[in-house]
Amino acid sequence: MTRFLVTGASGLLGLNFSLRVGSEHQVVGVVNQQVLYQAPFPTVQVDLSEKGAVETLIKQTHPDVVLHCAALANVDTCELEPERAFRVNAELPGELAAACKRENIKLLHISTDAVFDGQKGAYSETDAPQPINTYARTKLAGERAVQDTNPDAIIARVNFYGWSLTGRRSLAEIFYTNLSSNQTMRGFTDVFFCQFYVDQLTEILLQMVKKKLKGLYHTTSPESLSKHHFGKMIAEQFGLNAGLLIPSSWQEAGLKAVRSPNLTLDSRKLSRDLEMTLPGQKEGVRLFYSAFCAGLPKRICEMGRSSA
Ligand SMILES: NC(=O)c1ccc[n+]([C@@H]2O[C@H](COP(=O)([O-])OP(=O)(O)OC[C@H]3O[C@@H](n4cnc5c(N)ncnc54)[C@H](OP(=O)(O)O)[C@@H]3O)[C@@H](O)[C@H]2O)c1
Repeated sequence: MTRFLVTGASGLLGLNFSLRVGSEHQVVGVVNQQVLYQAPFPTVQVDLSEKGAVETLIKQTHPDVVLHCAALANVDTCELEPERAFRVNAELPGELAAACKRENIKLLHISTDAVFDGQKGAYSETDAPQPINTYARTKLAGERAVQDTNPDAIIARVNFYGWSLTGRRSLAEIFYTNLSSNQTMRGFTDVFFCQFYVDQLTEILLQMVKKKLKGLYHTTSPESLSKHHFGKMIAEQFGLNAGLLIPSSWQEAGLKAVRSPNLTLDSRKLSRDLEMTLPGQKEGVRLFYSAFCAGLPKRICEMGRSSA
């Protein structure tokens, strides 16, 4: 049994990871503004951006592994609040990396495919990042702070979807919500990505820890899809009307922050080092649907609400 400290435990990845892993391993989740109600694992409420908070948390909990998911992960919020984005996404990971190194704790730091500008696609770990917005620039600075401070840490560049507290955190949920209420929705035909369903990602992160990997890994599905294609797969899996999806370009959507059109990553280094074939998109969508049938969205949503 491994003792995990999971930051961002109220977020999409942190919460799903903790729910999935909490029955086999010991998990303590760190939340900030969003308290969790009736979570099946203990939580602590800490604003990690406050001076000394990381140090105190690590000393008090002393886990075997820290999974660092906490971030200012909304691209548009990062454009509006660049200083906060820098503090949370760039400085905080470096502080955590230093504390983990001092205490001999394994750090698994979560980064993003968005460190690339998306002009080329199929990026490998040796390609030079070219971040194009505040979110990406601050996340890249966070990676570098971890790398410089704690070379034994794992840095996983990810992209994923799943069921979240708000029901709006991932594109898959938004497709489901709109299509199931018969609303039309744009699906970008010119934005490509390689996302995992969050439980697929959780299993892979566990394997990475077990295999004692270190350094930078592209931790995404080996299959890429356009957002429009992904929407069609969701519609088909849930038996919804795919005709409600309007094929369109991201450039017509009036987004605040510039997007990268081709964020496909080459994950062969990870596949080689884990000695396994990484799972594909169809399997992910099937698992997303199975979780829905098992009542996970409702269960998660209730954790975000006080019953009082
Ligand atoms: N979602 C994606 O598809 C995607 C894609 C690529 C990379 N990533 C990366 O994956 C990681 C997890 O993303 P996510 O989508 O799960 O994030 P999310 O749902 O937006 O959740 C962010 C989490 O960070 C916590 N947090 C923010 N500021 C904090 C602070 N000052 N102190 C303590 N906790 C703080 C939030 O806590 P409260 O809500 O309690 O305030 C929340 O639990 C991030 O590093 C993100 O950059 C995500």
